[in-house]
Amino acid sequence: MSKIINGKEIAQSVKDNLKEKVLQFEKDYGRKITLAVILVGENPASQVYVKNKITATEYVGMKSLSFRLPENATEREVSDLVTSLGADDNVDGILVQLPLPKHLDENKILALIPASKDVDGFLAENVGNLLLGLPTTVACTPFGVLQMLKYEGIELTGKNAVVIGRSNIVGKPMAMLLLKENCTVTICHSKTVNLKGVCKNADILVAAIGKPKFVTADMVKEGAVVIDVGINRTENGLVGDVDFEAVKEIASYISPVPGGVGPMTIAMLLENTYICATKRENK
Ligand code: GUN
Repeated sequence: MSKIINGKEIAQSVKDNLKEKVLQFEKDYGRKITLAVILVGENPASQVYVKNKITATEYVGMKSLSFRLPENATEREVSDLVTSLGADDNVDGILVQLPLPKHLDENKILALIPASKDVDGFLAENVGNLLLGLPTTVACTPFGVLQMLKYEGIELTGKNAVVIGRSNIVGKPMAMLLLKENCTVTICHSKTVNLKGVCKNADILVAAIGKPKFVTADMVKEGAVVIDVGINRTENGLVGDVDFEAVKEIASYISPVPGGVGPMTIAMLLENTYICATKRENK
């Protein structure tokens, strides 16, 4: 029987810690830390995420600027907005909620965000810094997973870590963070041969593949730490990438969905915004 990692509680402690730092920032620099959030179109999941991000931003005492553009916004309109926020000295962080409508070039638009305001840690410069082990903003979801592991006092050095999924947002940066923590890291994906066997060898298993209940009990080593990054909307509600009920009998720690990684992602967005603001004041 595993210990269930309470992401909501850990996120709350991150946010409460930040609240004090944000207040001190305001005293030191005479202004509020400001995060600009851009949502293009009507994607229902994105609308919920953005609403939660704005609520949390205000909870920790930061200012949020919210921009909503219609589904048929032109690349020029979105680009002009990102460029003007990039040049605005009062804006510390810029978040363009993904996915963007299909007619917009995501990479082109994200590249207009100055690296110093990249609260998502998506830009090539910041991904490169992560790879080189230099201080940077790291994509919020993997950053949040690492904080969960640390909060629980889970030893990482020398452990076999397996990440299922190779996305730029989760899988790749997650692997880099675990490598930095001295794990022996394997990234699995749709073409991996004997995926079950590879997973079964994991001391730390991070599932970020986007398939409901993909990780079954027979893929998990006794006593492994299992982190579920999946958020799959099914007719039975929100389901993770892990078969939670079965796997919790085998793992030593497991994160649930909902209430696991999700709240941590938002907390780390705020942490990144604080990091960007502090760096901008001290450059
Ligand atoms: N869409 C899904 N996750 C994320 C995220 O972490 N950041 C942004 N900008 N968009 C997302």
